[in-house]
Amino acid sequence: MDIFNTQAGRTTPIEVTPAPRRRRIIVALTGATGSILGIRTSIALRRFNIEPHLIISRWAEATVKYETDYTIPNIRALADHAYSIHDMSAPIASGSFRVDGTIVVPCSMKTLAAINAGICDDLISRAADVVLKERRKLVLAVRETPLSSIHLQNMLSVTQAGAIIFPPVPAFYIKPSCIDDLVDHSIGRILDLFDLNTGDFER
Ligand SMILES: Cc1cc2nc3c(=O)[nH]c(=O)nc-3n(C[C@H](O)[C@H](O)[C@H](O)COP(=O)(O)O)c2cc1C
Repeated sequence: MDIFNTQAGRTTPIEVTPAPRRRRIIVALTGATGSILGIRTSIALRRFNIEPHLIISRWAEATVKYETDYTIPNIRALADHAYSIHDMSAPIASGSFRVDGTIVVPCSMKTLAAINAGICDDLISRAADVVLKERRKLVLAVRETPLSSIHLQNMLSVTQAGAIIFPPVPAFYIKPSCIDDLVDHSIGRILDLFDLNTGDFER
């Protein structure tokens, strides 16, 4: 950016370099089973110089309660910024607010369908829509089994729009000794997509 130095009667351009900002990643938890994956992704991001932005859906709140010992305030405290899913005036609802990517983890079939259809009636589907339109990275850690043709078509269609479908399926070649090993592996592979190396699993 150029501004002008008009001191001493001279008008000379001065080069101004904007300060580099921290990379921003949105982490969105939806109501599919596997809420621990979203929680541990938020924890893992704290180790990097990343500014995490967090959204938790109503049904994610229910699965967190059902599946873990974490409380919603605990999880919200992991992020630099945490938003209500109803807050359509949040900065991340706008493409002019620069973010480097969004991870929906875990991602329900309902949110997958909303993203595919471009229905932006909550902050998660809107934030995902924005990263797609801005050609930023969108990773959907989809969780359902078995899969219907509706689910599969939605996954193909969002992939064609630029999203990355990342089902958090277990990798048995790591010889997991506990669920934590599987969680670490899935999160490590998700963060690989953002060039972030957790170092938490053997390659
Ligand atoms: C305990 C529990 C487990 C669920 N597991 C899944 C799942 O694995 N995949 C899925 O698509 N929906 C699952 N659901 C249903 C979703 O929560 C439901 O479709 C909800 O509307 C998703 O909304 P959201 O995407 O806004 O969070 C589960 C619901 C509960 C209560």
